[in-house]
Amino acid sequence: MFEQRNYCGELTLNDVGTLVRLAGWVDTKRDLGGIIFIEMRDVTGIIQVVFDASKNSSAYEKADKVKNEYCIFVTGQVARRSEDTINPNLKTGMIEVVGQDITLLSESEVPPFPVDSYTNLNEEVRLKYRYLDLRRAEMQEAILVRHKVMQATRRYLTDNRFIEVETPILNKSTPEGARDFLVPSRINKGMFYALPQSPQLFKQILMISGFDRYFQIAKCFRDEDLRNDRQPEFTQIDLEMSFVTPQIVMSLIEGLLKEIVWQVLGKEIETPFPVFTYDEVMQRYGKDAPDTRFGLELADVSNIFTHSSFNVFKAALENGGIIKAIVINDEGKISRAMIDEYINYVRAFKAQGLPSVRYTGTTFETGIAKFLSDSEKEKLIQQLKLHSNALIIFSCDKPKIVNDALGNLRIKIAQQLNLIDQDKLHFLWVVDFPLLEYDAEEGRYYAMHHPFTAPKPECEPLLDTVTPHTTDTIKAQAYDVVLNGVEIGGGSIRINRMALQKKMFSILGISEEEAKVKFSFLLDALKYGAPPHGGIALGLDRILMLLLKRNSIRDVIAFPKTQKGQCLMSEAPSPVSAQQLKELSIKVVEL
Ligand code: AMO
Repeated sequence: MFEQRNYCGELTLNDVGTLVRLAGWVDTKRDLGGIIFIEMRDVTGIIQVVFDASKNSSAYEKADKVKNEYCIFVTGQVARRSEDTINPNLKTGMIEVVGQDITLLSESEVPPFPVDSYTNLNEEVRLKYRYLDLRRAEMQEAILVRHKVMQATRRYLTDNRFIEVETPILNKSTPEGARDFLVPSRINKGMFYALPQSPQLFKQILMISGFDRYFQIAKCFRDEDLRNDRQPEFTQIDLEMSFVTPQIVMSLIEGLLKEIVWQVLGKEIETPFPVFTYDEVMQRYGKDAPDTRFGLELADVSNIFTHSSFNVFKAALENGGIIKAIVINDEGKISRAMIDEYINYVRAFKAQGLPSVRYTGTTFETGIAKFLSDSEKEKLIQQLKLHSNALIIFSCDKPKIVNDALGNLRIKIAQQLNLIDQDKLHFLWVVDFPLLEYDAEEGRYYAMHHPFTAPKPECEPLLDTVTPHTTDTIKAQAYDVVLNGVEIGGGSIRINRMALQKKMFSILGISEEEAKVKFSFLLDALKYGAPPHGGIALGLDRILMLLLKRNSIRDVIAFPKTQKGQCLMSEAPSPVSAQQLKELSIKVVEL
């Protein structure tokens, strides 16, 4: 019955007159009294099938019995639609199938929501009935595009001499900054595997083994707080190369992203991407993954206010802080109430208040205008290039607070004032990240990328005298790729000498004992002629989310988890039986 099947969405005017055999679902059914129209759906799209009682009463009667979401098999002849019945909204809208027979393959209960793309659905219901949600056109598109991107990635990397190697899922923990998901071992009682946060160490080992170009479309697991661009289980396009420089990795990735964008959108993107240093993006955008689709750049105006009569500025500078400003040429659109809303918003970033002033084109008014001296006003006009009605918002505090507050506010304002062209794709690289960051609360250093990232050669000697104040000057051979303000990938050149790797562990407060327990295999492997190597991992889910303009990565993953890490369809995680726990020697106690 199913041999030589045709696909609904693939039928065209060229098929007019041919007999076709279609299998799929009833998308909608309309009965115009004596004529039934069924819009029939399969993975390729929708075609209209017509059953006319006056021409084929037995097929009509069978068609009369089907309802939405019934699974059916139809045979019929493709016909051109008359001018007045053409449906321009449907890819197959020029044609229809004149049904000759219809077989009911499987009935459907009334679905909990209409399986169309237009209904605004509650996400929890969608996730619970994911099998129905995935029937909707926009979800089908996401999953099909995902497949296409994975195949294009495999092709591109294979053409560039990469080989695909699977690395283990049951692992020892790899520290990437998040918590591990742990799996108890039954045979080794009291022992646990960790699910990989990334294949980092294994891909480095593969380089040492002589496979000089590795890739994997790798599932990674991180037990961290979830957001719209984070899942506990996500997919990386992960790769590693020997005998490589950052430039080689970066231009390879530009080629891959070019190919991916072409596959998804049929658009050519320009390469090479602009390259910014970390210091520059922090200075201009307050974020290490800046959205450059709009202006509203941050300007450091500390130098203007060294003798300020405004106590808030004065105190901030005296406490080692900075003052930054953003200029919004809003033509008076931003109201006092909106500024209050912004002040509330930046509290989440620990900023206390947002001094502001309006420049009318000739004078300064409202807010802190009365505190500004003539020379400060003059310098603001010069430095901020003020020319017409504009609101100037300041933040003064420790650099991190100022950058967080204004860096995020800049995006909020751009969204509010509709300054972002949603069709733009702004790819860019951020390089020269600090190797280390100092956590004052914990009194220890963290690796900004991960502990295997190499410093820039000229910065290596500085590792002997690290202090919390010198971390900014020790730059890493690390690079992030950013699309429209979202980090879509990150990588680095790795340390390939044991002495340097040991030094790095020691700076990070990982004792020799601990390093031995956790990564003795890497340290040992580094003894045996480890080639210079480096790599990168791209977040596949994030790339798809951005290119397909979806709000969440959940919309490009077939079976995602909720913000609480649950699969509402299968109801994972779930309790396990006492017997299972016993076998694992595990007792659940309340702490
Ligand atoms: P990193 O931790 O930067 O690097 O991860 C690489 C990319 O993976 C994506 N990503 C995520 N996507 C969805 N949900 C998450 N929870 C999540 N976490 C990360 C991001 C990110 O840019 N081993 C290194 C790579 C390397 O050095 O080669 C690594 O994992 O898009």
